[in-house]
Amino acid sequence: MDQEDPSVALTPQQSAGDQDVEASLRPRKLGEFVGQPRVREQLELVLHGALKRGDQPDHVLFSGPPGLGKTSLSMIIATELGSAIRVTSGPALEKPGDLAAMLSNLAEGDVLFIDEIHRIARPAEEMLYLAMEDFRVDIVVGKGPGATSIPLEIAPFTLVGATTRSGALTGPLRDRFGFTGHMEFYAPDELELVLRRSAEILRVRLAEDGAREIARRSRGTPRIANRLLRRVRDFADVRADGRVDREIARSALAVYDVDEQGLDRMDRAVLAALVHSFRGGPVGISTLAVAVGEEQTTVEEVCEPYLVRAGMLARTPRGRMATVAAWQHLGLAAPDTAPGESQAVGFGE
Ligand SMILES: Nc1ncnc2c1ncn2[C@@H]1O[C@H](COP(=O)(O)OP(=O)(O)O)[C@@H](O)[C@H]1O
Ligand SMILES: [Mg+2]
Repeated sequence: MDQEDPSVALTPQQSAGDQDVEASLRPRKLGEFVGQPRVREQLELVLHGALKRGDQPDHVLFSGPPGLGKTSLSMIIATELGSAIRVTSGPALEKPGDLAAMLSNLAEGDVLFIDEIHRIARPAEEMLYLAMEDFRVDIVVGKGPGATSIPLEIAPFTLVGATTRSGALTGPLRDRFGFTGHMEFYAPDELELVLRRSAEILRVRLAEDGAREIARRSRGTPRIANRLLRRVRDFADVRADGRVDREIARSALAVYDVDEQGLDRMDRAVLAALVHSFRGGPVGISTLAVAVGEEQTTVEEVCEPYLVRAGMLARTPRGRMATVAAWQHLGLAAPDTAPGESQAVGFGE
């Protein structure tokens, strides 16, 4: 049984214990991929159009918060194309040489997946421009005035990039992707489908009302849904007969400190700081991040998108504000200045 700090159970980022299970739960084909109907349809056209013409498909970028299926879709692209996939990440491509080595090893038709592509170092990024456009790189040999650059042909490939921050990508890089898929949070009924599929693979007896309860509290995120399913399964195995229904799910999620809206500790900390330290805002994101003791990028990329989606946080020109729903979620009466409607209900109800 994998032991996790309960407070970790909700973070959408991948944790060490996730890796193996995630591999087994990852959808393999476009047809197995639940939700994201727009991205799926657009992607299918991009891939099958190219296949039909016998062309190399355009470079593809996926953007969106963690845990929504960017890596899964990238792997699916290779499967759909019948190609091999090479995997790397922005932080691993520190020197242009790292990228050059990766590129020169590609075979024709390969998919090159660069995760966290917004974190690629600048010189490597510039090398990528030429590679994406002309399937060529210029290798600089030597230093100073005697340096020469040697052009190197690379095999036609499709670059697939994933990012939690498409805003952090430079314009020239963004422009070189022929298609960008914006991943959205999943609706509860889509997460129910994800959970049912996972339950079957993991052989968990999951009742319909159990799936509904977990889905509702999964923060719109398949990775969290799958993780909560495993935690609820533990509870069901230890404290009951292993079957997961609504009652078991509720009791288990209470143990793991998952609230009714599925908000995690950091989400709640952000709302509490907004309300208690800044009277609901407006407050700048950097000040807010300091108040909760998190990196600004974490608050911006992980926390904020869901709170906005759930209608609890508003981004205004003057800063972030707690909405009426946020005040109510914390059991407080909202001041008149709070944006949003009274009795607003969060996403997932
Ligand atoms: N659309 C989906 N259908 C089924 N399972 C999914 C879907 N999207 C994500 N998952 C599950 O969530 C996990 C995390 O997805 P992943 O592709 O790694 O997200 P990201 O790369 O966006 O952080 C996967 O291992 C898979 O089990
Ligand atoms: Mg990923």
